[in-house]
Amino acid sequence: MTSPAPLIPVPRVTVIVVAAGSGQRLGAPAPKAFVGIDEHTILRHALRGVFAGPPAQVVVVAPRERAGDALTDAREAAHQAGPGRADLVTVVAGGTTRQESVSAGLAAVWPDVRFVLVHDAARALTPPEVFARVITALESGHDAVLPVLPVIDTIKRVADDAVIEAVDRASLAAAQTPQGFARAVLDAAYAEASTDHTDDAALVQAAGVAVATVAGDDRSFKITTPADLERARLLVAAAGADAATVSARVSPDPLPAPPVLPRVGMGTDVHAFGGEGALWLAGLEWPGEPALHGHSDGDAVAHAIVDAVLAAAGLGDIGTHFGTDQPEYAGAHAAAFLARTRDLVTSAGFAIGNVSVQVQANRPRFAARRGEAEAVLTAALGAPVTVSATTTDGLGFTGAGEGIAAFAVALVVPAV
Ligand code: CTP
Ligand code: MG
Repeated sequence: MTSPAPLIPVPRVTVIVVAAGSGQRLGAPAPKAFVGIDEHTILRHALRGVFAGPPAQVVVVAPRERAGDALTDAREAAHQAGPGRADLVTVVAGGTTRQESVSAGLAAVWPDVRFVLVHDAARALTPPEVFARVITALESGHDAVLPVLPVIDTIKRVADDAVIEAVDRASLAAAQTPQGFARAVLDAAYAEASTDHTDDAALVQAAGVAVATVAGDDRSFKITTPADLERARLLVAAAGADAATVSARVSPDPLPAPPVLPRVGMGTDVHAFGGEGALWLAGLEWPGEPALHGHSDGDAVAHAIVDAVLAAAGLGDIGTHFGTDQPEYAGAHAAAFLARTRDLVTSAGFAIGNVSVQVQANRPRFAARRGEAEAVLTAALGAPVTVSATTTDGLGFTGAGEGIAAFAVALVVPAV
């Protein structure tokens, strides 16, 4: 074990970055940590967040045959973070399970270190504040600290393709990394562990240690599938990567941070008349008007808004999130669609700027109820929605009174 150069004091914290997995679910030709997000790998992005956090020894656990690449990534990230930081980096070879990899990392922790954080390289966009929060909680006396996010989705317990019961999500939290521990506690728990655990908090808890929680971060999502990688690429491209911005600020020769640009998206929807019951359009019920046909209430205005907002955030379209395989949206009205859309986009790190939607229809007549529609849609989406309406001079299917078309444009802003 080598000691760090005396340029900066020996840190009392070690961050073990586990990057030795193969990434089977991602299915890329290279091990997951060495897949590019932009011109930099997942590991390199993860290390930017680590080095932008409080000073720490950094142990990277990599596949044996990738140790050299890991060292290059780590040295570059350390160099960008400031003088002397590269001396704090060690690379070790991982094992066949995550737990074995963490164990290999633990063996490389310097003797004087008090706190050990274990971080998944796959959570590449984790911002430095999360590292700081975990360390502060350890310093305040907790032996084990877990960053968590509230669960947004409605959760059901299921078996054999049937729902058994709803689970109260208020008592649930999604576990993230970096997970922090008093070094002695983690060493002891690893020495005792006989079974495999999904994360270190679970392993330590099985050894009887209380685990405290701190706030996690939406950006700490784990890159597991190709869709997660796409999300990371969009966030990095759109926001210039939070971690990159931070390291550019502390770099001795900083490059200007790329500008954070808003993003637009468009959405269209068409429904034919001929549904059952009353017409629902633009979040309003229209008594006496013919109903539209559709899986939900056929509200073409709401659906066009959903498509536009999702497209702006790069999150697919309405079919991705509200498909006919989701029975809870059968018959649902605009408020349910728009509230869920807002949650999806916010979780992906965007704020919604505004939405403009235009309805093409002979009827209903919007003039008298435009303000009401705008108020309902705005409240449900949590961002200003303006509604305009037009007829098509008798042309096309809307002119012939066969159905309704709606066109929406949305603006979203990366929340950096
Ligand atoms: N990990 C590791 N050693 C292993 C397995 C996983 O260091 N033997 C690391 C991964 O590199 C990743 C983190 O643990 O940063 C979380 O694991 P996961 O997201 O499951 O990554 P993989 O195991 O690589 O992916 P998959 O399960 O899809 O194969
Ligand atoms: Mg795995």
